[in-house]
Amino acid sequence: MSKAIAIDGPAGAGKSTIAKMVAKELGFIYVDTGAMYRAMALYMLKNDIKPEESDKISATCKSADITIKHEDGQQVVYLNGENVNGLIRTEEVGNMASASSVNGDVRAKLVELQQKLAQTTDVVMDGRDIGTVVLPNADAKIYLTASSQVRAKRRFDELTAKGVECDIDVIEKDIIDRDYRDMHREISPLKQAEDAVLVDSSDMTIEEVANTIISIYKEKIE
Ligand code: DC
Repeated sequence: MSKAIAIDGPAGAGKSTIAKMVAKELGFIYVDTGAMYRAMALYMLKNDIKPEESDKISATCKSADITIKHEDGQQVVYLNGENVNGLIRTEEVGNMASASSVNGDVRAKLVELQQKLAQTTDVVMDGRDIGTVVLPNADAKIYLTASSQVRAKRRFDELTAKGVECDIDVIEKDIIDRDYRDMHREISPLKQAEDAVLVDSSDMTIEEVANTIISIYKEKIE
Protein backbone atom coordinates (compact mmCIF):
# COMPACT_ATOMS: atom_id res chain seq x y z
CA MET A 1 0.00 0.00 0.00
CA SER A 2 1.23 3.47 -0.77
CA LYS A 3 2.16 5.84 2.04
CA ALA A 4 0.79 9.32 2.62
CA ILE A 5 1.55 12.37 4.74
CA ALA A 6 -1.16 15.04 4.85
CA ILE A 7 -0.15 18.63 5.63
CA ASP A 8 -2.90 21.19 6.10
CA GLY A 9 -2.83 24.74 7.38
CA PRO A 10 -3.47 28.38 6.56
CA ALA A 11 -1.85 30.38 3.75
CA GLY A 12 1.77 31.31 4.38
CA ALA A 13 2.49 28.75 7.10
CA GLY A 14 5.31 27.31 4.94
CA LYS A 15 3.45 24.16 3.86
CA SER A 16 4.86 23.90 0.34
CA THR A 17 8.50 24.56 1.31
CA ILE A 18 8.32 22.03 4.13
CA ALA A 19 6.29 19.45 2.17
CA LYS A 20 8.88 19.55 -0.65
CA MET A 21 11.74 18.96 1.80
CA VAL A 22 9.95 16.10 3.55
CA ALA A 23 9.04 14.48 0.20
CA LYS A 24 12.65 14.70 -1.01
CA GLU A 25 14.02 13.23 2.22
CA LEU A 26 11.59 10.29 2.17
CA GLY A 27 11.58 9.74 -1.62
CA PHE A 28 7.86 10.57 -1.86
CA ILE A 29 6.12 12.70 -4.49
CA TYR A 30 5.05 16.18 -3.38
CA VAL A 31 1.48 17.06 -4.40
CA ASP A 32 0.50 20.73 -4.17
CA THR A 33 -3.31 20.71 -4.22
CA GLY A 34 -3.51 24.52 -4.06
CA ALA A 35 -1.98 24.57 -7.56
CA MET A 36 -4.94 22.51 -8.82
CA TYR A 37 -7.43 25.02 -7.34
CA ARG A 38 -5.35 27.79 -8.90
CA ALA A 39 -5.44 26.10 -12.35
CA MET A 40 -9.21 25.79 -12.05
CA ALA A 41 -9.40 29.48 -11.07
CA LEU A 42 -7.30 30.41 -14.09
CA TYR A 43 -9.78 28.56 -16.30
CA MET A 44 -12.66 30.55 -14.75
CA LEU A 45 -10.81 33.83 -15.37
CA LYS A 46 -10.11 32.80 -18.98
CA ASN A 47 -13.85 32.25 -19.40
CA ASP A 48 -14.67 35.69 -17.91
CA ILE A 49 -16.47 34.18 -14.95
CA LYS A 50 -16.85 36.28 -11.79
CA PRO A 51 -16.23 34.82 -8.30
CA GLU A 52 -19.91 35.22 -7.35
CA GLU A 53 -21.27 33.35 -10.44
CA SER A 54 -21.52 29.96 -8.74
CA ASP A 55 -23.84 28.33 -11.33
CA LYS A 56 -21.42 29.23 -14.11
CA ILE A 57 -18.48 27.94 -12.03
CA SER A 58 -20.31 24.60 -11.53
CA ALA A 59 -21.06 24.28 -15.25
CA THR A 60 -17.65 25.44 -16.49
CA CYS A 61 -15.51 23.25 -14.21
CA LYS A 62 -16.79 20.19 -16.08
CA SER A 63 -14.78 21.13 -19.19
CA ALA A 64 -11.54 21.84 -17.30
CA ASP A 65 -9.17 18.94 -17.70
CA ILE A 66 -6.55 19.31 -14.97
CA THR A 67 -3.67 16.86 -14.78
CA ILE A 68 -0.49 16.69 -12.76
CA LYS A 69 2.86 15.41 -13.92
CA HIS A 70 6.22 15.32 -12.20
CA GLU A 71 9.09 16.49 -14.37
CA ASP A 72 12.65 16.70 -12.95
CA GLY A 73 11.19 16.32 -9.45
CA GLN A 74 8.89 19.31 -9.96
CA GLN A 75 5.11 19.25 -10.09
CA VAL A 76 3.73 20.54 -13.38
CA VAL A 77 0.03 21.38 -13.69
CA TYR A 78 -1.64 21.05 -17.09
CA LEU A 79 -4.93 22.77 -17.88
CA ASN A 80 -6.52 21.28 -21.01
CA GLY A 81 -3.08 20.19 -22.19
CA GLU A 82 -1.26 23.47 -21.46
CA ASN A 83 1.48 23.76 -18.82
CA VAL A 84 0.13 26.57 -16.59
CA ASN A 85 2.80 26.57 -13.84
CA GLY A 86 3.95 30.04 -14.91
CA LEU A 87 0.43 31.53 -14.84
CA ILE A 88 -1.07 30.49 -11.52
CA ARG A 89 1.00 32.36 -8.92
CA THR A 90 -0.58 35.82 -9.32
CA GLU A 91 -2.73 37.56 -6.68
CA GLU A 92 -5.64 37.60 -9.17
CA VAL A 93 -5.54 33.82 -9.58
CA GLY A 94 -5.03 33.30 -5.80
CA ASN A 95 -8.09 35.39 -4.97
CA MET A 96 -10.20 33.64 -7.61
CA ALA A 97 -8.97 30.26 -6.27
CA SER A 98 -10.08 31.19 -2.77
CA ALA A 99 -13.53 32.09 -4.17
CA SER A 100 -14.02 29.22 -6.66
CA SER A 101 -12.75 26.60 -4.18
CA VAL A 102 -15.95 27.08 -2.12
CA ASN A 103 -17.85 25.46 -5.01
CA GLY A 104 -18.88 21.83 -4.36
CA ASP A 105 -18.54 20.72 -7.99
CA VAL A 106 -15.00 22.13 -8.21
CA ARG A 107 -14.06 20.40 -4.96
CA ALA A 108 -15.58 17.04 -5.93
CA LYS A 109 -13.65 17.01 -9.20
CA LEU A 110 -10.29 17.94 -7.66
CA VAL A 111 -10.65 15.70 -4.59
CA GLU A 112 -11.20 12.71 -6.91
CA LEU A 113 -8.04 13.56 -8.83
CA GLN A 114 -6.05 13.94 -5.59
CA GLN A 115 -7.29 10.61 -4.21
CA LYS A 116 -6.36 8.83 -7.45
CA LEU A 117 -2.83 10.24 -7.30
CA ALA A 118 -2.36 8.97 -3.74
CA GLN A 119 -3.65 5.48 -4.55
CA THR A 120 -0.61 4.50 -6.56
CA THR A 121 2.20 6.73 -5.26
CA ASP A 122 3.77 7.62 -1.88
CA VAL A 123 2.81 11.26 -1.39
CA VAL A 124 3.30 14.29 0.80
CA MET A 125 0.16 16.24 -0.04
CA ASP A 126 -0.56 19.76 1.18
CA GLY A 127 -3.74 21.80 1.17
CA ARG A 128 -6.64 22.70 3.45
CA ASP A 129 -8.72 19.48 3.59
CA ILE A 130 -6.18 16.71 3.03
CA GLY A 131 -6.31 15.15 6.52
CA THR A 132 -10.04 15.75 6.92
CA VAL A 133 -11.49 14.86 3.49
CA VAL A 134 -9.00 13.83 0.79
CA LEU A 135 -6.85 11.31 2.70
CA PRO A 136 -8.64 10.52 5.99
CA ASN A 137 -6.45 7.41 6.37
CA ALA A 138 -3.11 9.17 5.80
CA ASP A 139 -0.21 7.62 7.74
CA ALA A 140 0.58 10.99 9.36
CA LYS A 141 -1.43 14.20 9.50
CA ILE A 142 0.11 17.56 10.29
CA TYR A 143 -1.64 20.86 10.92
CA LEU A 144 1.04 23.43 10.20
CA THR A 145 0.45 26.96 11.33
CA ALA A 146 2.21 30.18 12.41
CA SER A 147 0.96 33.48 13.80
CA SER A 148 -0.47 35.95 11.27
CA GLN A 149 2.34 38.42 12.13
CA VAL A 150 5.03 35.84 11.36
CA ARG A 151 3.29 34.77 8.12
CA ALA A 152 2.94 38.42 7.04
CA LYS A 153 6.61 39.09 7.79
CA ARG A 154 7.71 36.05 5.74
CA ARG A 155 5.58 37.18 2.76
CA PHE A 156 6.84 40.77 3.15
CA ASP A 157 10.49 39.57 3.12
CA GLU A 158 9.81 37.39 0.06
CA LEU A 159 8.24 40.26 -1.92
CA THR A 160 10.85 42.80 -0.79
CA ALA A 161 13.63 40.45 -1.90
CA LYS A 162 11.98 40.40 -5.36
CA GLY A 163 11.99 44.21 -5.37
CA VAL A 164 8.20 44.47 -4.92
CA GLU A 165 7.09 47.42 -2.77
CA CYS A 166 4.52 46.40 -0.20
CA ASP A 167 2.94 47.25 3.14
CA ILE A 168 3.23 44.63 5.90
CA ASP A 169 -0.08 45.69 7.51
CA VAL A 170 -1.96 45.22 4.22
CA ILE A 171 -0.34 41.79 3.79
CA GLU A 172 -1.35 40.77 7.32
CA LYS A 173 -4.93 41.92 6.73
CA ASP A 174 -5.09 39.89 3.47
CA ILE A 175 -3.81 36.83 5.35
CA ILE A 176 -6.43 37.24 8.10
CA ASP A 177 -9.24 37.69 5.51
CA ARG A 178 -8.15 34.62 3.55
CA ASP A 179 -7.88 32.51 6.74
CA TYR A 180 -11.42 33.57 7.61
CA ARG A 181 -12.76 32.60 4.16
CA ASP A 182 -10.93 29.25 4.12
CA MET A 183 -12.04 28.39 7.70
CA HIS A 184 -15.68 29.44 7.39
CA ARG A 185 -16.75 28.08 4.01
CA GLU A 186 -19.56 25.53 4.05
CA ILE A 187 -17.81 22.65 2.27
CA SER A 188 -14.54 21.24 3.64
CA PRO A 189 -13.47 24.28 5.66
CA LEU A 190 -9.87 24.46 6.84
CA LYS A 191 -9.67 22.82 10.24
CA GLN A 192 -7.32 20.58 12.16
CA ALA A 193 -8.26 16.89 11.78
CA GLU A 194 -8.87 15.22 15.14
CA ASP A 195 -5.87 12.94 14.68
CA ALA A 196 -3.55 15.62 13.21
CA VAL A 197 -0.48 16.85 15.09
CA LEU A 198 -0.32 20.63 15.49
CA VAL A 199 3.03 22.14 14.50
CA ASP A 200 3.43 25.89 15.09
CA SER A 201 6.35 27.09 12.95
CA SER A 202 6.39 30.68 14.31
CA ASP A 203 9.65 30.19 16.21
CA MET A 204 11.14 27.28 14.24
CA THR A 205 13.56 27.10 11.33
CA ILE A 206 12.52 25.33 8.11
CA GLU A 207 14.87 22.45 8.93
CA GLU A 208 13.41 22.08 12.43
CA VAL A 209 9.88 21.91 11.04
CA ALA A 210 10.82 19.36 8.35
CA ASN A 211 12.66 17.18 10.89
CA THR A 212 9.72 17.37 13.30
CA ILE A 213 7.34 16.16 10.59
CA ILE A 214 9.65 13.33 9.52
CA SER A 215 9.92 12.19 13.18
CA ILE A 216 6.12 12.29 13.56
CA TYR A 217 5.72 10.19 10.40
CA LYS A 218 8.36 7.64 11.50
CA GLU A 219 6.75 7.30 14.93
CA LYS A 220 3.32 6.78 13.37
CA ILE A 221 4.40 4.03 10.98
CA GLU A 222 6.39 2.10 13.59
O1 DC B 1 -2.35 27.01 -1.04
P1 DC B 1 -2.73 28.01 -2.11
O2 DC B 1 -2.63 29.42 -1.64
O3 DC B 1 -2.01 27.80 -3.41
O4 DC B 1 -4.30 27.72 -2.38
C1 DC B 1 -5.09 28.54 -3.20
C2 DC B 1 -6.55 28.50 -2.72
O5 DC B 1 -7.09 27.19 -2.96
C3 DC B 1 -6.74 28.76 -1.22
O6 DC B 1 -7.30 30.04 -0.96
C4 DC B 1 -7.71 27.73 -0.74
C5 DC B 1 -7.88 26.77 -1.87
N1 DC B 1 -7.51 25.40 -1.52
C6 DC B 1 -8.51 24.59 -1.02
O7 DC B 1 -9.63 25.03 -0.84
N2 DC B 1 -8.24 23.27 -0.74
C7 DC B 1 -7.01 22.77 -0.91
N3 DC B 1 -6.80 21.48 -0.64
C8 DC B 1 -5.96 23.59 -1.39
C9 DC B 1 -6.24 24.91 -1.67
